[in-house]
Amino acid sequence: IHSMSFPARPKIVVCKDLGPAMPLLTDREDIDVVPWTEDRPCDRAWLLENIAGAAGVVVCFQDMVDRELVNAAGPNLRVVSTISVGHEHIDLRIMGEHKIQVGYTPDILTDAVADSAVMLALMATRAAGQSYSFVKNNEWPAFNWTPFAFCGPQLSTTPFSPTRTAGFLGFGRIAHAVLTRLAAFGITHCVYTPRPGAAHQTTRDAQLKAKHNLAAVTPVDLGTLARDSDILFVLAPGGPSTRHLINEVFLRQMKPTSVLVNNGRGSVVDSAALALALKNKWIWAAGLDVVDEEPQVTAEHPLVREPRCVVLPHIGSAAIETRAEMATLTAQNVLAGVLGGQLPMALDY
Ligand code: DGY
Repeated sequence: IHSMSFPARPKIVVCKDLGPAMPLLTDREDIDVVPWTEDRPCDRAWLLENIAGAAGVVVCFQDMVDRELVNAAGPNLRVVSTISVGHEHIDLRIMGEHKIQVGYTPDILTDAVADSAVMLALMATRAAGQSYSFVKNNEWPAFNWTPFAFCGPQLSTTPFSPTRTAGFLGFGRIAHAVLTRLAAFGITHCVYTPRPGAAHQTTRDAQLKAKHNLAAVTPVDLGTLARDSDILFVLAPGGPSTRHLINEVFLRQMKPTSVLVNNGRGSVVDSAALALALKNKWIWAAGLDVVDEEPQVTAEHPLVREPRCVVLPHIGSAAIETRAEMATLTAQNVLAGVLGGQLPMALDY
């Protein structure tokens, strides 16, 4: 006698409210939906208890999908559907061991994240965080406007600074979309670090160079990336291979006028080293949508305390249209997985 028999209706545990896409799951009679309904991150103990016997689970980047979770679910678990392109939170080795499919949401969020990367680049270069706080703190009335107050390096090229190099740690879809946007600012050079072991993409790079009218698109090593970038975009997906790649050694090599933007994963940047770099003016400013310690990023966090650091609470893809599409795809992925169909967007791992 099996203690955990196949339930008649497959169970789906939903750790995040999928908003307008929720009825795609809750309106169906052939599945059993168990949603986390509180307005805070899904409680781990609740998840471990409720996932027992589930065929599918909907998670976000805050929910660790590890051996503990898979063991708690038991043998019915067939699909993990994450409302993110990033999958640092999912242990793919364990997914492979248990033949669990992973659904995710690439492509549809590319433009929204690229938009926010450019927003952070502009905010950081032009002191938007500092000057906005200044107004909120009621300091404008006593402000003695001077030509150089709140100045920062210009993102676009000028006759006085005719070259600008955009650097990319992580040169995938989102990075390419950022480059497209930066072309309008007159960026002249692009450097990026290729994935270890990846073949050189000479043709692709020549195409990008021509398309965006750049002087060069060049694969470089980490040291050159640090030294050459006027604005560095961190768009790496995270995980052990990129942990703290941006550390004190890297930051010390950057230009004092350079700006760092992180829209990838917090784990790629060593927060303490970045705070030191800002304090010692090794770099000019930083714009962060993700932080290693998130969500435990209080007003006392060393990066939040740095005047030239703009910190946003992981909202890179938070455009209404994009989030609605992400939620729909997340629901479709989990549904296909539990009903034995093909996932509309499966992670190839
Ligand atoms: C992702 O998709 O990985 C983002 O971090 C959340 O939208």
